Amino acid sequence: MDFKLTEEHIMIRDAARDFAKQELLPGVIERDEKQEFPKELIKKMGELGFLGMMASPEYGGGGMDTISYVLAMEELSKIDASASVMVSVNNSLVCWGLDTFGNEEQKKKYLSKLTTGEKLGAFCLSEPEAGSDATSQRTTAIDKGDHYILNGTKNWITNGSSADYYLVIAQTDKEKKHKGINAFIVEKDSEGFEIGPKEQKLGIRGSDTHSLNFNDVKVPKENRIGEDGFGFKFAMKTLSGGRIGIAAQALGIAAGAYELAKDYSKQRKAFGTEICNHQAIAFKLADMHTQIEAARHLVMKAAWDKDQGENYDLSGAMAKLHASKTAMDVTVEAVQVHGGNGYVKEYHVERLMRDAKITQIYEGTSEIQKIVISRSILKD
Ligand code: CAA
Repeated sequence: MDFKLTEEHIMIRDAARDFAKQELLPGVIERDEKQEFPKELIKKMGELGFLGMMASPEYGGGGMDTISYVLAMEELSKIDASASVMVSVNNSLVCWGLDTFGNEEQKKKYLSKLTTGEKLGAFCLSEPEAGSDATSQRTTAIDKGDHYILNGTKNWITNGSSADYYLVIAQTDKEKKHKGINAFIVEKDSEGFEIGPKEQKLGIRGSDTHSLNFNDVKVPKENRIGEDGFGFKFAMKTLSGGRIGIAAQALGIAAGAYELAKDYSKQRKAFGTEICNHQAIAFKLADMHTQIEAARHLVMKAAWDKDQGENYDLSGAMAKLHASKTAMDVTVEAVQVHGGNGYVKEYHVERLMRDAKITQIYEGTSEIQKIVISRSILKD
């Protein structure tokens, strides 16, 4: 068993680390305060290849493996989880979904612009009454021959206003339950498509989250992804990979907070010595480091499974479950190590603690991960 990264992996990780330090760190506190993310920074991430890392090179993607992707996600998330959620949604859900299940025309028309940062994507599954219970879609898509008419509301959509292309899951035949669900590509300027107000969030405040309304939105039939009725499987398969990206995000948030806490503990003095020399702090750091390493192994294993063509539903869910709990535990402890300074913005750990919480909620709550895990381990 070889745990060593290849030279190429190290290069990609270091490129993401440099980008995060040089381009994301300046202004991260301000972006969190103002709940905004400049378009130029999204463009820059696209130009550097962070928005289409795993997508096929013939459509502008980087053709990289999942290991490369999670390494980059970890580095970006150490500094700015708002940036990394945009990267995650665009890569794992939108680009991967289109690259894997889209047809040639859809890839040429949409994917090739999403991989480069020319356009940004959003994934629209959740609804006011269908977050975890994804089969209970209320948004309808009525078949009108050469087009569908979409009506309904989507909630908590990442990149809600900054996206250009939206992958929308909708019910086409209620009688058929999950087999009557389809996925569509909807363009932002479609008539009847309306972006709701920005959500005021606890964390990942730089990324924009909105509800979306579809009022008789006409979507051409050629924008349906896959065969009729494929939408639920499309969403499940796409989310399975997405969970690996969010697990890497959680890992990065934890690792970022841990590194800050470790550095701080070597500088801050109390009772005549640096606080890292007190067992109360040293033991905290030992626990944090161990939890992070365990999370990293689970994330890498899930990414490796995906790259090897193995099933990654179970390993991805376990990675997300554990890494998101690690993110929560470690960021709380990192604030504690910082004492009073941990509670103010300039030390960054309070933001990482707020950012950590969402990793236990989106792309399937921790409870959903336990459903996926328990079903998988009990089936044989
Ligand atoms: N891959 C392929 N097919 C799958 C699958 C997977 N991972 N999971 C389920 N399916 C298939 C099943 O095989 C079944 O198909 P058949 O009928 O042909 O056998 C079908 O889908 C229905 O499966 P279940 O009966 O297991 O479905 P369920 O209703 O019991 O739900 C669930 C399963 C895992 C709980 C699912 O509903 C789920 O994942 N919910 C959470 C949804 C979620 O993650 N929401 C987050 C929103 S997106 C987001 O957060 C993005 C963002 O902006 C950051």
